[in-house]
Amino acid sequence: MNAPFVDLFDPESFVAGVPHDYFAWLRAHDPVHRQPDAGGGYWAVTRYDDVVAVERDPVTFSSGRQSALLMDLTPDELHFMSQQLIHMDAPQHTKLRSLVNRGFTPRMIRLLELHVRELAHEIVDHVAPKGECDFVAEIAAELPLQVIAELMGVPTEDRWRLLDWSNRTIGLEDPEYGSLVDAKVATVEMFIYAHELAEEKRAHPVDDIISALVTAEVDGERLTDIEFNMFFFLLVVAGNETTRNLVSGGMLTLFDHPDQLARLRADRSLLPVAIEELLRWVSPVIQFRRTATRDALIGETRVAEGDKVAIYYSSANRDEAAFEDAGRFDITRAPNNHVAFGLGPHFCLGASLARLEARAMFEEILARMPDIEPAGPVERLRSNLINGVKHLPVRFTPTSASGEETT
Ligand code: HEM
Repeated sequence: MNAPFVDLFDPESFVAGVPHDYFAWLRAHDPVHRQPDAGGGYWAVTRYDDVVAVERDPVTFSSGRQSALLMDLTPDELHFMSQQLIHMDAPQHTKLRSLVNRGFTPRMIRLLELHVRELAHEIVDHVAPKGECDFVAEIAAELPLQVIAELMGVPTEDRWRLLDWSNRTIGLEDPEYGSLVDAKVATVEMFIYAHELAEEKRAHPVDDIISALVTAEVDGERLTDIEFNMFFFLLVVAGNETTRNLVSGGMLTLFDHPDQLARLRADRSLLPVAIEELLRWVSPVIQFRRTATRDALIGETRVAEGDKVAIYYSSANRDEAAFEDAGRFDITRAPNNHVAFGLGPHFCLGASLARLEARAMFEEILARMPDIEPAGPVERLRSNLINGVKHLPVRFTPTSASGEETT
């Protein structure tokens, strides 16, 4: 049999959905696969154990040497991006991370819980009387956007700008959202905005993350302007796209598994465990990149210093060697050591927040939209980084905000 081939670098390969059959073939036959790209090619790491090993060895597999992004950056672009947490190595990463961690501890997130639930309730209040909507735009995108805007103290009237910037930067390979030039323009707009916001918060600090960040010190040092702007940019993108796609990809997954959806509706106490399975199944982030700082082995494959390595969370999370019956979606799966949030020093800063948002949103949906169902074709994001759903038309029995049926 000839080896199958899917171009994992080409964003088009993900438009019809993550190529799970191909990943299964790679895990079995070519687990550290040589993938051509626009430059010299890269290693696609597809097995769970290998993804974990790479994540746990940031000295050999660097995020800073060439960024955590698959595309190759020019030296100027790299210089710019290297000021962002996700593209740093120790000791710079350790210092900045300890600064920003303060805003995202599980304790801080618990303090937000009541408010996040109120926001989720209002989002459903808004769509409930309509009887139909685009699930992505009107439900899944709203909560992460509102929460991140609120956390950062962005005024209400400016919130739509966060969504627009986020779409234009992450969707640069999708014609619905923009182009590389547009992504760069959006970044500049975001920076100007972040700069003005920081000035305002320095002059008038209040109880929000931005005020904490612009005034906090580690070893007597404060965040530089560029570090602050880059962190703002990272939060806008990382805080929006990922959770939105967990909720929309999660809804789609539940539609595809009606028995599991019925079970969850009957017993909503299963939700926290079900969310872990949705994280495993959807894996909103497909991969991140590392660069080898020395010759090394990944599994049995020898990689050379300077090689580009992509760790595929989407594939690791379906690895039969790590998950019993990995191809079965099971909302009661436990244990569930998925790597949807990564692992090691770059483990997702927003993991507790994302879990809280997903739980709050699904609780509202399950309680108040009991007959929600798909109502049209799904459109997916053209991206090799984010497993995204752009449009998901749904219908449901309209109710008033108080929960009474209106037809
Ligand atoms: C379901 C939702 C989410 C998923 C699947 C996700 C996934 C990830 C993954 C895989 C990484 C690791 C990057 C690496 O190893 O190179 C990461 C890092 C990060 N995430 Fe998330 N994320 C989610 C939500 C969020 C939210 C809500 C925020 C912020 C409010 C956030 C902020 C960050 C930041 C700042 C980093 C960089 C951490 C570092 O480099 O130290 N994420 N995320």
